[in-house]
Amino acid sequence: MDFKVKYFQGILVLFLFIFSSCNAQTKTDSNQITNTLVGGPCEGCEAIFEYDNRKLTHIDTLPDFYKEGVKIKVEGTIYQPDGKTPAKNIILYVYHTNQEGVYAPKENAKGWAKKHGYNRSWIKTDKNGHYSFYTLKPAPYPNRSDPAHIHYTILEPNGKYYWLGSCHFKGDTLLTKNEIKPDSPRGGSSGLLILKKEGDLYVGRRDIILGLNIPNYE
Ligand SMILES: [Fe+2]
Repeated sequence: MDFKVKYFQGILVLFLFIFSSCNAQTKTDSNQITNTLVGGPCEGCEAIFEYDNRKLTHIDTLPDFYKEGVKIKVEGTIYQPDGKTPAKNIILYVYHTNQEGVYAPKENAKGWAKKHGYNRSWIKTDKNGHYSFYTLKPAPYPNRSDPAHIHYTILEPNGKYYWLGSCHFKGDTLLTKNEIKPDSPRGGSSGLLILKKEGDLYVGRRDIILGLNIPNYE
């Protein structure tokens, strides 16, 4: 008899454990954000999810900044689609070539670091929508097919992620008309940086409006 009671109690405890686990799982799932690529196809946009578990901040320094070259700071404000309200907690992924114009991977590179090289960063806007990063002005590709540029990808807290046009540098002789003044700049910004000297640094600004000129943004 005792054995039967204990057996029954065991089954009951097991049932309650499974039931509570399932219930907890359901709650977790309902809180999860679904990441959605918008704005058309994008090779490598998923690299925005490769940040490590360190706390992301609104200021970062890329590895090349400590080498020889033109030291730059790129800063800006990211706004909500209304173009006025600062957008906090937006993750911005940037990457660029080194001083040889190459996306050089480190020896132990994994994931998209193999293609995007070591000069990359994930920055998260603060409550004022501000972001900034320090790095060296990149060099154009060795065959000089494109002007020097910094790639930008955005991830919003709602899970939408998409590419923006790259940052370029005013005065670069490799720039085309479309890079200087695109018809419908994604995020409302051509990305053309006008560098101004501030001490040892050259500072450029790029503000962004979320979703502007991004197809299927809704
Ligand atoms: Fe590139």
